[in-house]
Amino acid sequence: MKNKKIIIAGGTGFMGQEMIKYFGKENELVILTRQLHHTKTNRNDYNSLSAEDLRQTRFVKWDGINAGEWVKELEGADLLINLVGRTVNCRYTPKNKKEILDSRVNATAALGNAISQCAHPPSLWINASSATIYRNAEDKPQDEYSLDLLDDFSTQVCKQWEKTFTEQSTPGTRKVVLRMAITLGHGGVLIPYFNLLKFGLGGKQGSGKQMYSWIHIEDTCRVIEWIWEHKEMSGVYNCSSPYPVPNKEFMKLLREVTGNKFGLPAFEWMLKFGAFLIGTEVELVLKSRWVLPTKLLESGYQFTYPELKNAFTAILKQVPRKQYHLF
Ligand SMILES: NC(=O)c1ccc[n+]([C@@H]2O[C@H](COP(=O)([O-])OP(=O)(O)OC[C@H]3O[C@@H](n4cnc5c(N)ncnc54)[C@H](OP(=O)(O)O)[C@@H]3O)[C@@H](O)[C@H]2O)c1
Repeated sequence: MKNKKIIIAGGTGFMGQEMIKYFGKENELVILTRQLHHTKTNRNDYNSLSAEDLRQTRFVKWDGINAGEWVKELEGADLLINLVGRTVNCRYTPKNKKEILDSRVNATAALGNAISQCAHPPSLWINASSATIYRNAEDKPQDEYSLDLLDDFSTQVCKQWEKTFTEQSTPGTRKVVLRMAITLGHGGVLIPYFNLLKFGLGGKQGSGKQMYSWIHIEDTCRVIEWIWEHKEMSGVYNCSSPYPVPNKEFMKLLREVTGNKFGLPAFEWMLKFGAFLIGTEVELVLKSRWVLPTKLLESGYQFTYPELKNAFTAILKQVPRKQYHLF
């Protein structure tokens, strides 16, 4: 994409920063954020945006709930990407659960409301959702045609997030939901894995049989471009590589490409205890996420990184060795 105006709500996080790098050099970007003083990055684990990446990027304040001056930015924009969501990497206490849900639903509704106020609304609105909407699948892969969604907390969040998006009436704006699989890049979820490797703990987690659906962040950006170019695409798409792997394979490949010869496994009881200690949920590592990007493949999209080993190899070129080795 070139010379387009792209709005990214929640664009200061892991994916947003990668999207700034990918789209920022040749397009005008507006990042909607709650914290203007964090204009470069709000993450201390990831800080690699260059002046060139940010040359055509502006940060505009909003609260993710109410209309305000920011609404004007949507006027005449080409593409709106919504990445807002309070992190799910926490204990699922009633307070955290409420924030996880409200942040997603409120921001989606606020953006829908803003679009309805535009004389020239964005042509395309892509809203994030999560591939965790599908059930714990150990028997067969799930795709956009699967109907047996369960009703646990994560699924309910995704359903309400998507329902809010679907309910927004935007006659002049094409809408796409991207159900994101675990997204790999320099930062994000790989940081805790690198820490495990460093301390010899890079073995399988639990039984290691749970499936791991993933995508390289560059493919996520290319998928967005692909959807922009293919005006017939709308509705729900899984954003995941066509080759998910079991957790033990994921860890084995990660050890291989990082040159970590061994990694102790983490048994389920250890994970439960560890998750309790660090204030997160064991579901994040033990759920079997077995998802395929059927509709993307039907659309003709070709992945740059269909295979995990190539994805890891490409990412590691950007990561200093000290991040995944003690010495
Ligand atoms: N990364 C993955 O592997 C993955 C997988 C599946 C789905 N997803 C979904 O994809 C989206 C982007 O993921 P990410 O990894 O880039 O997330 P992230 O790093 O946590 O960034 C999310 C952004 O949302 C904004 N935000 C957080 N809480 C908010 C609130 N209460 N109100 C308004 N804004 C809030 C923050 O921006 P400010 O602080 O600047 O306002 C933050 O930078 C999220 O919705 C996530 O659930 C991610």
